[in-house]
Amino acid sequence: MKDQLNKIFHKVFHSEEQLDYFFAPGRVNLIGEHTDYNGGLVFPCALDVGTYIAMAKRNDDIIRLYSDNFPEKGIMEVALSDLANKEEDDWANYPKGVIKIMKDHGYEGKTGFDAVFYGNIPNGAGLSSSASIELVTAILWDWLHGFQIDRVEMVKMCQEVENKYIGVNSGIMDQFAIGMGKEDHAILLDCNTLDYEYAPIQLEGMKLVIANTNKRRTLADSKYNERRAECEQALKDLQSVVSINHLCDLSTEKFEEIKHAIKDPIALNRAKHAVTENERTKVAVEKLKEMDLDAFGQLMNQSHISLRDDYEVTGDHLDALVEAAWEETDVLGSRMTGAGFGGCTVSLVKEVDLDGIVERIGKRYEEKTGITPEFYIVGVGTGAKKV
Ligand code: GLA
Repeated sequence: MKDQLNKIFHKVFHSEEQLDYFFAPGRVNLIGEHTDYNGGLVFPCALDVGTYIAMAKRNDDIIRLYSDNFPEKGIMEVALSDLANKEEDDWANYPKGVIKIMKDHGYEGKTGFDAVFYGNIPNGAGLSSSASIELVTAILWDWLHGFQIDRVEMVKMCQEVENKYIGVNSGIMDQFAIGMGKEDHAILLDCNTLDYEYAPIQLEGMKLVIANTNKRRTLADSKYNERRAECEQALKDLQSVVSINHLCDLSTEKFEEIKHAIKDPIALNRAKHAVTENERTKVAVEKLKEMDLDAFGQLMNQSHISLRDDYEVTGDHLDALVEAAWEETDVLGSRMTGAGFGGCTVSLVKEVDLDGIVERIGKRYEEKTGITPEFYIVGVGTGAKKV
C-alpha cells in the first residue's frame, strides 16, 4: 500500500519528499441500529479496509489535498486560516472540517501539509467512508503537532465535524468504532455513558459477509435527521409520564406500559424500534459470548424486521438483498447495516459453500431489482493509526 501511495503522491505533487502514512478503517455494525443517538447500545467493529493518507510536511500554512478516489476533483488547496465549508470543495470538506473543529478545541497548529488520500471502502455504501476520512485526518493532525490527544476526545471531535460542520446529526457510533476498533473484536458501546467493552469475534466456521445493494443512498441525510426528530418528539411525549433522558433508558416492558403517551403513531413506531433494538443488542452480545451463533443470527434478522416495519429505513433494495439471504439455510442471520436507505447488508454465513451461497443470493437479488450486488468477505481490523 505504501508503494502505491508513494507513486501517486510523487505523480500528483511532483515531489520527492519523505512521506508519513496514516490509516483509519471503515466500520460495520453487527447490531444496535439507530440506537446511538437514543442513548442506547451499539455493537460495531472496525474493518480491515479503510482510508490511507500519505503526507509530507510543508513550511507554510497551506494544505493541499488530493484523493485518488476522486481524481477528477484534482488538488484542493486551502490555507489553515480559511477552513470554512465550501460546496465546491466536495470530499475535502471532511478533512478541512476535522482541522477546523480540532483548532476550535485548542489544537491549533501552524504547519501545513500535502496529502494524498486513498480509500478502499466502497463509496456511499454505508460503511462509514466519511468517518474514516475524519479519523485518519485527526490522527495526522495530532501526529503532525505532537498533541497526543486522548482517543475518545478525538472521536467526539470527529462526531462534531458531522454535526456542526457537515450538518448531519449523526450519533457517535461510527467515529467510535473507527477510532477505538481492535483486531478480531467488536465493541459493545453504551452511547449514553460511553462505557465500552471489547467482545472477541470468534466465528469458527463462519464468515461475516457484507453485501452492497449498489443502490446509492439517496436523501439519506435528510431522512436520517427526520428520524432523529421523530425520536426526540416521542421522548418529549414520554417525559410527560416518566423521568428519562433517552428512549433507550426504557425496558420493553416499561415502554409498553407508557407508550400511550406518544401522540403520533409514527413517532410511536420509531420509539418502539429504539427500545426493542437496544434490548436485542444486549441479548445478542450475551449470545455471542455463549457462542450461540444461531441465536445471534436470529436477533440480526429481528433487527432488520424492526428497521423495516417500525423504523422504515430499509427500502426495497435492502429488503430484497436480506430476503435473498434469508432463503439460505447456511445464513444464520442477515440485516441492513448503518443508516439504511440503500447501502449494505451484513450476514453471518457458514463457511461450507460460501461461493455458492453468495452466487445464489446475488442472482435472486438481481432478478428482483435488476442490479448486480457486490459481496465482500471482511476481516475485523484495528482502529485508526499512524502506519
Ligand atoms: C449512521 C450514523 C450513526 C448511526 C447509524 C445508525 O451510520 O452515522 O451514528 O446512527 O447511522 O445506527
